Amino acid sequence: MPDNVLVAYATKNGSTAQIAEAVAEVLRKDGLGAEARPAGSVTDVAPYDAVVVGGGLYAGRWHKDARRFVRRHRRALTGRPVWFFSSGPLDASAAERDIPPVPGVRRAMDKLDVVEHVTFGGRLEEGRRDASPA
Ligand SMILES: Cc1cc2nc3c(=O)[nH]c(=O)nc-3n(C[C@H](O)[C@H](O)[C@H](O)COP(=O)(O)O)c2cc1C
Repeated sequence: MPDNVLVAYATKNGSTAQIAEAVAEVLRKDGLGAEARPAGSVTDVAPYDAVVVGGGLYAGRWHKDARRFVRRHRRALTGRPVWFFSSGPLDASAAERDIPPVPGVRRAMDKLDVVEHVTFGGRLEEGRRDASPA
């Protein structure tokens, strides 16, 4: 069981960060070491035994910081257990059924042999509807 888990997240409007913090909190309650950090701020995954990567969905793709994180750390991630999550659907669908990863995330999962992917419901604050994609 991993002692030190990184939950790396990529967010534009903050909801993916909140999910990442909640995931890290659950892991800590289970007795693991876990910290949530913005994906773009992580320079090295070597200190971590396992990695969770989460990205907000914009126009059918993960937030660019999540895509970059996976590209940049691909070699180190290959040797570690990795989980993915996406934050997106604004209706109740994610709570009602499993939503598969978008194609780009699916491809990254195959390359890295990711253990599992989960889609969480997203959130869009009032006034953000015209926000440009990440
Ligand atoms: C311009 C825009 C495009 C979006 N595209 C998608 C999408 O393709 N699929 C999806 O499930 N959600 C989509 N959403 C919803 C976001 O993924 C949702 O608001 C998510 O919680 C954003 O994460 P963040 O708050 O961490 O940035 C979109 C939202 C905006 C504003």
